[in-house]
Amino acid sequence: MKTNRLATRLVLVTACFLMVCCAPKKINQEEQQIEKLLAQMTIDDKIGQTALRGTSSRVKGALSEEFKQAVRDGQVGSVLNVMNVEYVKELQGIAVEESRLGIPLIFARDVIHGFKTIFPIPIGLAASWDEQTAYDCARVSALEASSQGIRWTFAPMLDIARDSRWGRVAESPGEDPYLASILAKAYIRGFQGDSLSDPRSMAACAKHFLAYGAAIGGRDYNSAVIHNAEMQNIYLPPFKAAIDAGAATIMSSFNDVNGVPATGNKFILRDILRDQLGFNGFVVSDWNSVTEMIPHGFAANEKEAGKLSAMAGLDMEMTSAAYQNHLKQLIETGEVSMDVLDDMVRNILRVKIQLGLFKAPYIPDNHPGQMYAEESMKAAYDAAVNSFVLLKNDNNLLPLKAEQKILLTGPLADAPHDQLGTWTFDGDKARTVTVKDAFEQNASTQFINGLEYSRDNSKKQFQATVAKAKKSDVIVFVGGEEAILSGEAHSRADIRLPGVQEELLYELSQTGKPIVLVIMAGRPINISAVLPFVDAVMMAWHPGTLGGPALYDVLTGSREPGGRLPITWPKSAGQLPIYYNQKNTGRPADKESFVHMDDIPVGAWQSSLGNKSHYLDAGFLPAFPFGYGLTYTSFDYSNLLLSDTTMNDAGNIKMNVTLTNTGSRKGTEIVQLYLQDQTASLTRPVKELKDYQKVTLLANESRVIEFNIKASQLTFYNNDNKKVLEPGVFNVFVGGNSLHVLSDSFCFE
Ligand code: BGC
Repeated sequence: MKTNRLATRLVLVTACFLMVCCAPKKINQEEQQIEKLLAQMTIDDKIGQTALRGTSSRVKGALSEEFKQAVRDGQVGSVLNVMNVEYVKELQGIAVEESRLGIPLIFARDVIHGFKTIFPIPIGLAASWDEQTAYDCARVSALEASSQGIRWTFAPMLDIARDSRWGRVAESPGEDPYLASILAKAYIRGFQGDSLSDPRSMAACAKHFLAYGAAIGGRDYNSAVIHNAEMQNIYLPPFKAAIDAGAATIMSSFNDVNGVPATGNKFILRDILRDQLGFNGFVVSDWNSVTEMIPHGFAANEKEAGKLSAMAGLDMEMTSAAYQNHLKQLIETGEVSMDVLDDMVRNILRVKIQLGLFKAPYIPDNHPGQMYAEESMKAAYDAAVNSFVLLKNDNNLLPLKAEQKILLTGPLADAPHDQLGTWTFDGDKARTVTVKDAFEQNASTQFINGLEYSRDNSKKQFQATVAKAKKSDVIVFVGGEEAILSGEAHSRADIRLPGVQEELLYELSQTGKPIVLVIMAGRPINISAVLPFVDAVMMAWHPGTLGGPALYDVLTGSREPGGRLPITWPKSAGQLPIYYNQKNTGRPADKESFVHMDDIPVGAWQSSLGNKSHYLDAGFLPAFPFGYGLTYTSFDYSNLLLSDTTMNDAGNIKMNVTLTNTGSRKGTEIVQLYLQDQTASLTRPVKELKDYQKVTLLANESRVIEFNIKASQLTFYNNDNKKVLEPGVFNVFVGGNSLHVLSDSFCFE
C-alpha cells in the first residue's frame, strides 16, 4: 500500500515537473517550427494546406498523374480514402521529397467502429456504458489503420441523438450528454494513444460540430433550431470532454443551427469552439459542406461560401474547392485577411507536427500492423457482449437451457455483411462469425432463415419455418434491419421491423413455442406489434465481426447481457423525438389522468381540463426508458440516504443506497444517479444523469453504494451562455434506469 502511494506520488511529482519544465518548451518549439515554416510559405502554399482531397470511400484504383502533380505543387494538404499502402507511400514521398517545402500529408479515413476488426456500431458501444469498451474499439482501430498509413480518423461522432428516425443514431453515443462525455474521453484516449506522435496513433476528429443530431424530424442534413441553453447543456458537453481529452481535430456539421450553417457559423466555430472551449487543433468541414452553403441559401456562390467559412474559423475544406479557387483573390481584395489564413495554416501545421509527421512521415517498418489480432478480436467479442441489452425475458426464457431443441431463424441470423453495421469500409465480411456459425456448436439447433433479408416481403419460407418451429422447444428469431437501413442519409419515417418479419413472428407464435427475438439494427425499432407475443427480446445492434459468438454465449448464459439503453426506446415513431431528460411542462403527464382515446365516450364534451402532455393513443411513456436493461438476475434498491439536507458551494453530499442481488446468480447492475433542479431561472429537465457505477454482486449479496454529489453537478448554462448554480431544491434519484428510481431531495443554499 505504502509503496503504491509512493509510486503514485513519484508519478505525480514527475508529471508536474514535466508539465512545468517540458510542456511549455515543447509548445514553444512547436510554435517556432510553425512560424518558421509559415515565413517560407507563399499564399498558394498556405491555401494548399487547407485542402483535403481524395476520393470516395470505394475507390481503390491508381492515382492520377494530375493528383500527384497537385501534391508536388503543394496544392494538397491532406488526403482522404487512399486505400492502398503503396499509394500512401508514393504520395507521401512526393509531398516530403518533391514538393518545395516538404510538408507531409495527413492520410484520413472514416474508421468509425473498427478498421478490419469490426466492433459493434457506436450506439451499441454506447449501450455498454463502459469506457474500456469505447477505448478498446478506438485503440484497436488506431493500431490497425495506422499500419496502412492512416493517421487521422473521422471519429468519434459525438452528436446527441433524440430521434431514432435519424439514420445516424447508429453512429451516435445516444441521447445523454453525461454518458456521451464519458465515452468521448475514452475514444480520444484510444485513438490518440499516449502520444499523438506514436506511429500507432491516429488524430481523432470529434464530429459533427454542432447539433447535427437535432435535425428536425430525424431527416438527415436538416435544420437544428435550439436555444443557447440547449446547445450548451445538451449538445456541447461531449465535445468539451473530447477537447479536454486532447482531441486534435473537429469536423463542422452539415446542418444549419438557428439559421446559420455550422460550416460558416462564427458563433459556433470561434466564440464557442475557440474562445469558450479553448480548442487549438484544426477544424475540417464535412464533405462539401462549404459549398453546400449555397443550396442552404446562405452563400450566393462558391466564392462567398469560401469567404464565410474562412471568416467563421473553418481551417480545412473537405473535397470542395472554394478555398483553392477563391481564397487568394479574397485575400488580395482584403475581404479575408492574411492573418485569418495564417491562423488556419498554423492550426493545421500544429497537428502535423504533433503527429510526428515531419520527423517520421512514413509507416515505420516495425509497425506491428497485425489485422484481426487475437487480442483485438477478444476486445471486439467483449464489446459485443457488453453492448447487448435484454429488453424482455418472461418466465426467464433466457438463458436457453442445455436440453432445449432450438430453431434458429430470421433474416439476420446468417448475415455476415449486415452484422458489421453501417459505415464499415474495410471490415471483411469473410471474417464475420454469424449467429448461425456460432450455433453450429450446439447439436440441438436447426436452422432456416425464414426470410432472405430484412426487407424481404416473400412468404415462401413461412410454411417450412413454422414446420421446423413445431419440432423445436424454443425459437430464436434474429431479425431487425440490414446495415444499409441506418447510417448517413438513411433515415426512416417508420421504424418498425421491415418486410414481413412481423407476420412471420406472428405465424411462429401460433405454434405456442416460446420466442426469443434478437434484434440487429442501427436504431431502436418499434416492436409494439410483436412485443405481446414474443417472450424475450435482446437488442444486439449491429454487433460486428464476433457478434455471433458473443450472442451465442449470452443467449446460452455463459455471459450476461452487459448493456443498458443509451437512448429511449419509443413505442412508435409518432412519439419521436423522445428523451428522458425532457422538461416537465405546466401539465406533466401522469398515469392518474391519462385516458386512452378508446375510453373517451362518444360525443364527449371537448375540454382540455384533465388532459396532460400526452398522446391519446400512445400515452406518455416510452416502450423502454433510457438506462433500461435486464440481467439474468434481479436487483433491489433500498435505504436511500443523504448525508445532509443542505449543501453550499464548498460542500458536497454523500448519497448511499443499498443494492441487493435478489436473484439466483451473480450479476452486474449499472447504478444510475440522476439529479433535478426543481425550480430555476430556466425550466430544467425532469432528470439528468450525473454519475453511475457498475456493480457486480453475488446472489443474495447486498452492498451499500455511495455517490458523492458535488456543487459542480448542479450547474447549468442559461441562455446568455453563462454557467450558473442557483439556490433551491434539488431532487436526487437513484435506480437501474431513468424511470424506476428511489428519490429524495436536498437544498442548495
Ligand atoms: C460524413 C462524415 C464523414 C465524411 C467523410 C460525410 O458524408 O458526414 O461523417 O466523416 O463524409 O467520409
